[in-house]
Amino acid sequence: MAEHIIGTLADFPPGSHRVVTVGRAEIGIFNIEGEFYALPNICPHQFGPVCEGHVTGTLLSDRDHEWRHYWGLHGRVVSCPWHGIEFDITTGCALVNPKLKMRQYRIEVVDGSVCLTLGASVGSDPA
Ligand code: FES
Repeated sequence: MAEHIIGTLADFPPGSHRVVTVGRAEIGIFNIEGEFYALPNICPHQFGPVCEGHVTGTLLSDRDHEWRHYWGLHGRVVSCPWHGIEFDITTGCALVNPKLKMRQYRIEVVDGSVCLTLGASVGSDPA
């Protein structure tokens, strides 16, 4: 495992996202309301630059809303620019099929620095 300082907290304000290059890896860094997430910039569909997509929400429908559509997951969804598959940034899972899952890297803020650890995943590895 290798830890990399990729910037300061001020470089990644809440609501921001950007792609950083660490060695040969491109990693999407997302700050969602102060929580950091790091995903590979390689879409599990056909390897598009998924983290360069728009971050938004999505239309949802569930029993609690009597199966009516409503806007949800605001600021938690990145849409791959190649074919539009939407991923929940907080889980790495595609909304259309949670088995289509991206790896999540460990990222944390230490003394005002944003530290990314390559070689360490959060949660279970993708299927
Ligand atoms: S490459 Fe990302 S949706 Fe197809």
